[in-house]
Amino acid sequence: MKLDSNRIPILQEMLTLLEQGFSSLPDTRDSVDEDALREVLFEVAERMRDNYPYQHPLYAGQMLKPPHPVARLAYALSLWINPNNHALDGGRASSAMEKEAVAALAGLFGWKTHLGHLTSGGTMANLEALWVAGRLKPGLSIAASEQAHYTHERISQVLGLPFRSVPCDRSARMDVDILARMLGEGDVGTVVATVGTTGTGAVDPLAEILELQKRFGFRLHVDAAYGGYHVLTGNLRTDTRRAYDLLGEADSIVIDPWSVRAPVPQRLPSGPPNVSCPWSGEASSPACWNAHGRRRFSSASVSAHTPGFSRCSSPSSTSWCGRPKLTVSA
Ligand SMILES: Cc1ncc(COP(=O)(O)O)c(C=O)c1O
Repeated sequence: MKLDSNRIPILQEMLTLLEQGFSSLPDTRDSVDEDALREVLFEVAERMRDNYPYQHPLYAGQMLKPPHPVARLAYALSLWINPNNHALDGGRASSAMEKEAVAALAGLFGWKTHLGHLTSGGTMANLEALWVAGRLKPGLSIAASEQAHYTHERISQVLGLPFRSVPCDRSARMDVDILARMLGEGDVGTVVATVGTTGTGAVDPLAEILELQKRFGFRLHVDAAYGGYHVLTGNLRTDTRRAYDLLGEADSIVIDPWSVRAPVPQRLPSGPPNVSCPWSGEASSPACWNAHGRRRFSSASVSAHTPGFSRCSSPSSTSWCGRPKLTVSA
């Protein structure tokens, strides 16, 4: 297959436009040795050929897919500037763009008043959200289902918070009866509900968890890193739709834009849906190819922040907090 390189001229065109914005500055030249540069790129290109063909629409062995062409080009364009969004005055234009991006993500869940920011990934976003949770519920446990992303337990360890694993029901969703019993013991400060588990795409029963929140007053963090974007789909099962419609009730949400896939081409090569992979290590994996190149879920990232704490950014995930009373920057 061909890689999407035919759009490089568009990038070149936009670089010229970007350059014009700085035309009043004195000219400079870098001192990079182009032969050495070519040598390095040659080695990278050659070595990268041994990766799985993530970019092929028929490849489904890994959840990550290349970004949409517009995201790829926009990201490349931004690297010629490499702005510093650590503070609003550190990256004037790009911080404003970050705020717009986060507002658009918050809008997916009906949040008009929100605080959030972009992070390097879902794990960092969850870490920030649970850090806030730990500050608000000091010493109390974080509870997440046994199907929650494995990093929640590790994050709790890093933050020095006790972690409790909640068993799941037969549909791989958090068992709310067991959760209720645990909450009755009084040591759970935060519940992490997963909306789209990594393993099965299961959606924890948010309505029931929110009912329990009224009784027990815990903080509710939703890890929608993998499944969050399904809020946009129109064909969810009724109970799943109900959970998505309630996402705005959470105290914080993580959503990962990496999970949004580039469009699958209209015309796919014909052939059996499952064929063996020519790439090492996955020779017999049935997940290697499928007819649509899609996994059940794809997603974006968010977490919560407290006033005065720094923001960080890289255009992969987002972090925010839905309740202004609780925090601020996210
Ligand atoms: C439900 C869930 N949470 C968190 C993460 C971690 O996200 P990241 O890989 O962006 O750090 C993932 C990754 O697959 C996930 O599926």
